[in-house]
Amino acid sequence: MCGIVGYIGSRPASPIIIQGLKRLEYRGYDSAGIALYAKGTVNLYKTLGKVAELETLNDFAAASQCIGMGHTRWATHGIPSNANAHPHTSSSGELVLVHNGIIENYDALKRVLVKKGYTFQSDTDTEVLVNLIEDVQKTHNYKLGKAVQMALTQVTGAYAIVVFDTKKPNELVVAKLGSPLAIGIGDREFFIASDASPFIQFTNKAIYLEDHQMAILKQGKKPKIKNIKDGLVIDYYLQELELNLEQMEKGGYDHFMIKEIFEQPHAIKNTYRGRLLVDQSFIKMAGLEDHLEKLNNANRIIIVACGTSWHAALVAEYTFEDLARIPVEVEYASEFRYRNPIIAEKDVVIAISQSGETADTLAAIKLAKSRGAFVFGVCNVVGSSIARETHAGAYTHAGPEIGVASTKAFTTQVTVLTLIALRLAIFKGNISNSDFKHHLHELEMIPEKVEKALESDAQIKVIADIYKNSANCLYLGRGYNFPVALEGALKLKEISYIHAEGYPAAEMKHGPIALIDEHMPVIVIATKKGHYDKVVSNIQEIKARKGKIIAIVTEGDVDIRELSDHVIEVPETLEALTPLLTTIPLQLLSYHIAVLLGKNVDQPRNLAKSVTVE
Ligand code: M6R
Repeated sequence: MCGIVGYIGSRPASPIIIQGLKRLEYRGYDSAGIALYAKGTVNLYKTLGKVAELETLNDFAAASQCIGMGHTRWATHGIPSNANAHPHTSSSGELVLVHNGIIENYDALKRVLVKKGYTFQSDTDTEVLVNLIEDVQKTHNYKLGKAVQMALTQVTGAYAIVVFDTKKPNELVVAKLGSPLAIGIGDREFFIASDASPFIQFTNKAIYLEDHQMAILKQGKKPKIKNIKDGLVIDYYLQELELNLEQMEKGGYDHFMIKEIFEQPHAIKNTYRGRLLVDQSFIKMAGLEDHLEKLNNANRIIIVACGTSWHAALVAEYTFEDLARIPVEVEYASEFRYRNPIIAEKDVVIAISQSGETADTLAAIKLAKSRGAFVFGVCNVVGSSIARETHAGAYTHAGPEIGVASTKAFTTQVTVLTLIALRLAIFKGNISNSDFKHHLHELEMIPEKVEKALESDAQIKVIADIYKNSANCLYLGRGYNFPVALEGALKLKEISYIHAEGYPAAEMKHGPIALIDEHMPVIVIATKKGHYDKVVSNIQEIKARKGKIIAIVTEGDVDIRELSDHVIEVPETLEALTPLLTTIPLQLLSYHIAVLLGKNVDQPRNLAKSVTVE
């Protein structure tokens, strides 16, 4: 995790870096720091906590230095503290560095450096790296670029770094392995960041470094990109970005999370635009068409993902098996990568990730590829590591998701996966033409129905107020809505810190029912399609034990209303599409509870948006 920003050019660097760090705070917010260079001196400012705290240390708006770097940290090595905050300097004070990633062999490297007389002020792996570069530089009398390259050949782990040498103040050296790094190319200036959001207002041209690549950036000169392994200069691809600034801002909402919840009708439409061709009764997905045979012939599909993306994968398990009749296994990427999985020649792996940077998912993809599997990615962030590592894929086109709790990422992932399942189902002949058309038509209606589901916002706020002080919460669902129950529970725990569990409704009697008493709110997804009568029986069982029932029901349902303490209605749709609607009230419920409890909804404690460490 962690976010890094750098600038070299002729504008004052500090406003660019401070603003950039704020946009990257989704990557971690344990501490923040900035280094600015002017007239032979590096000014360093660091603070525990957020960038807003950093701003109180100096009048950065008045600072005129045109070269600098900044960092917002998600702690890995060393507690969040001033000493452990980046940027870090080398023992001599000549080199300055910010780092996102983990240097795994830092301990061994540190012992060697200590023997050579280097001293350390922090507990971080990063301070080891900056001293290693200094040691290589001094030992061989190398220029900064060469010293960085040679030092990195001794390092194992992951990094995106920006390095500055006070003896060579007209250049920044950057490098990448495992963690993302984008270079914005302006007019005689360079912007460096973990993603393009810090510089999108200045330039839409960027180079995304690949693993094992570094760049030497001198003001007014062309960037020099090199391969870290052999030091050879290589060509680069200049990408035109489609992001815009508006997407990065709250646009009148109190939090990114609520903005993103309300963006879902539009986001889902963007996901299926140009792909869902209802008039032609066809699904056209550029990334899929060339590989349909592979998926068609797959013995099974293995889906790897983490967190909310894993829940979207579970929904896809139902859709792929139900509609396309292809066996599916859903795996936590973190387990898959370490358990010597059996991957047969005709297996296809689908990797799902909003950020496209999740370390475990990336590692699972690499493992699957090394065993010969064809890997298809479903990502939101264009040009992300996972998008580049997979053989083919489909973007969700949800637009930037900044709130740490995933909302529109989930519904757009489910939309893409449903499109794929339907395309395969018709390709394989496993769905009738009329049923296929019906699904296409219903999918097209989903944005409108999500709008309708969002109208319950005020009602949900009232319910949130009643249950905000609960210590625990149970979420139940069956079939397609079992993953939605898991997702609802995850949303509540990650932003309100209330303990919540998601369960398949029928499993309740095998244990969790013991928890139910008059203090336990139970959120039951009980839409008309999908095991309705069975879920009604489950609700009876909860009621008999005095649990408080909040039921998510199909519009117009009167039976469950009588049994429940509260009902929240969603429009009717086909069973396979219900997760796209039933998840909406659960997102709103978590959001309102967290706000009422005064929690930091967009940046919950201990979390980061992009989990680039194991
Ligand atoms: O970027 P990814 O989709 O790969 O992220 C996976 C999880 O880290 C993510 O979904 C996480 O669980 C969210 N905070 C949940 O809201």
